[in-house]
Amino acid sequence: MASMDLIPAPVGAKDLRAGDGFAVDERTVIDAGPGTEGAARWLRQVIGAATGLPLGPGADGSDRTVRLRIDAGVADTLGPEGYRLDVDSAGIGLHGGSAAGVFWGAQTLRQLLGPEAFRRAPLRQDRQWTVPGCAIEDGPRFAWRGMMLDVGRHFMPKAGVLRYLDLLAAHKLNVFHFHLTDDQGWRIEIKRHPRLTEVGAWRSRTKWGHRASPLWDEKPHGGFYTQDDIREIVAYAAERHITVVPEIDIPGHSQAAISAYPELGNTDVVDTAALTVWDTWGVSPHVLAPTEKVLRFYEGVLDEVLALFPSTFIHLGGDECPKDQWQKSPAAQARMAELGLADEDELQSWFIRHFDRWLAERGRRLIGWDEILEGGLAPGAAVSSWRGYAGGIAAAESGHDVVMCPEQQVYLDHRQHGGEGEPMPIGYVRTLEDVYRFEPVPPQLAPEAAAHVIGTQANVWTEVMEDQNRVDYQAFPRLVAFSEVAWSALPAPAERDYPDFDRRMAVHYARLDALGVHYRPPGGPLPAQRRPAPQGLTAADLGRPIEGTPPNV
Ligand code: ACM
Repeated sequence: MASMDLIPAPVGAKDLRAGDGFAVDERTVIDAGPGTEGAARWLRQVIGAATGLPLGPGADGSDRTVRLRIDAGVADTLGPEGYRLDVDSAGIGLHGGSAAGVFWGAQTLRQLLGPEAFRRAPLRQDRQWTVPGCAIEDGPRFAWRGMMLDVGRHFMPKAGVLRYLDLLAAHKLNVFHFHLTDDQGWRIEIKRHPRLTEVGAWRSRTKWGHRASPLWDEKPHGGFYTQDDIREIVAYAAERHITVVPEIDIPGHSQAAISAYPELGNTDVVDTAALTVWDTWGVSPHVLAPTEKVLRFYEGVLDEVLALFPSTFIHLGGDECPKDQWQKSPAAQARMAELGLADEDELQSWFIRHFDRWLAERGRRLIGWDEILEGGLAPGAAVSSWRGYAGGIAAAESGHDVVMCPEQQVYLDHRQHGGEGEPMPIGYVRTLEDVYRFEPVPPQLAPEAAAHVIGTQANVWTEVMEDQNRVDYQAFPRLVAFSEVAWSALPAPAERDYPDFDRRMAVHYARLDALGVHYRPPGGPLPAQRRPAPQGLTAADLGRPIEGTPPNV
């Protein structure tokens, strides 16, 4: 049965029972055991909207019942996020290792109802809804199954972020890495430093395409989330068992912040008062000055960030910090001498170590891009390995936790097809199948080091994604393949059954259609998704194609 084509594939037994399925109708009730009220509420809202059925609360015992339970036995065998789903004509039993496990089982239940269960209203009132008889045991391979969204380069309004949280939940992804600050925009309200958003959230124009492109979009661009918006996003994510990991990028990628507060920059080598929020792409040379005043400023920022985000991990970036201004700055050089630091890499480490300690004192943990390894990794820090696997391997072997997100494999801004007509040619060609064959744990890692790979993440950088449709186009369908990599216990890359995944995708496209996801169709971009180069320019004038195939593990 098509609706058994689950994605991500369940890890354990998926026994399709020959007997009748369970009919969901106006008499169906949800019996929510202690701790499962959130999953019950989600089922009532989402399945209730799609079916038009009340799915009210009900006592155990009737044959119309969907029973939700937290079950220590399931936690023992399938892990806290695992679940067991038993369906026959007498009822549905959904047992989770925790509230999260029950919630992921509820996601499976929606897939079993068929693609129309992904709509927000019923198409017909006389529709019969049946869950096929089955017994499923399931649980995730990784504890960190993430997607990063860059809202710095292009702002995504709050409603779009909430929609992405729903899309993550539908794919059993549980970490939303929220890249909130960059050279091109500061997106989170900080009450004690209001100019960060008054000034830093807005730019006057935007480069269209890669930085070498001669074209500009002359429309001002910007936006930010108020602290109430952030509270809403975090609470909405929590209801879906998604942790929001905020990223405040330091000491590089800081031009927007320096434009708002020029004293944050290296004022002895540049006139930072003349800086504006960056309007093009690449890595800005304008980085934070290594002063006590800057540390205090960012402690103030982080005080507010910690109050908003309960996540244990706080991402402080640390990537792509050009050292030129520190090399030229007498004040930075004097600071290095005073601190006894040998070079500018150590100065970068000094920044990161300061905030690693600061976060640890507050019960949190720092995570940063793999550049934080340079000049000495702060104790306790975790690494997002983006420049390939090497940083992640070095970090894991020295006992640091790692989230594998190598750009050659899971940067979803990279193009997904080498043919003509793709909207913007950025990076390597990484097809749906390439992502399906991505392996987060390099085989050369010994088991003890491999255990430090706590998970994996797909990163959506938005230089060439000016709106939600473009984000959808780049993220989907590849995020679907990624979700199976992150959740399901897939074999080694060469042994993965891609034809089976591709077959299940036929049903999944219908789910994405019902959700209104603007994915890249298997046959190539729709006319409205193409963005032909203006006369006289080639696609390569606008984008940054990288030829060749990146190494897999
Ligand atoms: C990064 O792509 N600069 C983390």
